[in-house]
Amino acid sequence: MTAVRIDGKAIAAELREKIAAEAQTLIGETGVVPGIAVVIVGEDPASKVYVASKGKAAKECHFHSVEHSLCADVGEAELLSLIEELNGDDAIHGILVQLPLPDHIDESKVLNLIRPDKDVDGFHPINVGLLTAGERDKAMVPCTPAGSLILAKRAIGNLSGKDAVVIGRSNIVGKPMAALLLAESCTVTIAHSRTKDLPDVVRRADIVVAAVGRPEMIKGDWIKKGALVIDVGINRIPAPERGEGKTRLVGDVEFDSAAENAGHITPVPGGVGPMTIALLMANTLTAARRKAGLDDLDYAALLG
Ligand code: GUN
Repeated sequence: MTAVRIDGKAIAAELREKIAAEAQTLIGETGVVPGIAVVIVGEDPASKVYVASKGKAAKECHFHSVEHSLCADVGEAELLSLIEELNGDDAIHGILVQLPLPDHIDESKVLNLIRPDKDVDGFHPINVGLLTAGERDKAMVPCTPAGSLILAKRAIGNLSGKDAVVIGRSNIVGKPMAALLLAESCTVTIAHSRTKDLPDVVRRADIVVAAVGRPEMIKGDWIKKGALVIDVGINRIPAPERGEGKTRLVGDVEFDSAAENAGHITPVPGGVGPMTIALLMANTLTAARRKAGLDDLDYAALLG
């Protein structure tokens, strides 16, 4: 391995500590306690793990944190009325509805009902619009892309003029990641399942962001020498070498071979994943500060 391994776990822990200190200052000076509500529908095991770690992080940051667990067969109207209740609750500054939702619920109806200033996921059309219109400072920015960008800037500094390829066009990661990289003056390509000759597209990239959700699909020999690789994928695969029925987590990038070529690379686990949760805390603090009439904090600068 020649690449520098980017320690997202350590950087996220450092960021959560800074957020906890800033939250204490806010509470001491204004009495405002940042509040987050996480809503989960159904019993998806992976979603339950994420929701539990969000609650734990919120408590460590001194936030007021509530979780609403609804049955998989809850009616859409009931979920919508919960959102309305949270929209009107002054103790709640951030609302997150864990995705995916069951098929009988219209996801966009739910996301569009969340008040944009409480939309700590950054999925409301108002926030999507602000980000793509270059008004990032007024938006709530989706957590995974925002965390990925912090890792990228810490690794290589100024991104201006770099060729960036984002693989995956989801609303949660691919599209907002492309908007952030464009705002950093990268030349951005969004590749996806219909892209012709993906290996050649990736070979041109100074920055590769993989967000496809397919285990080790991006091969190491596609990575340009010295490139920065941000692997957003979290895929569970069988690991018979660890014993019968065992599994392990891998990214969307073939780590060992990619690390031979890359200059910097995020591991899975311990790369982007912990940053997502740290940025959710950051967005919640931002929402609370905005409501109190305070300026946004620069979280990348806080990390120093
Ligand atoms: N499911 C997978 N990723 C996310 C995310 O970033 N936010 C929400 N709300 N659900 C998710």
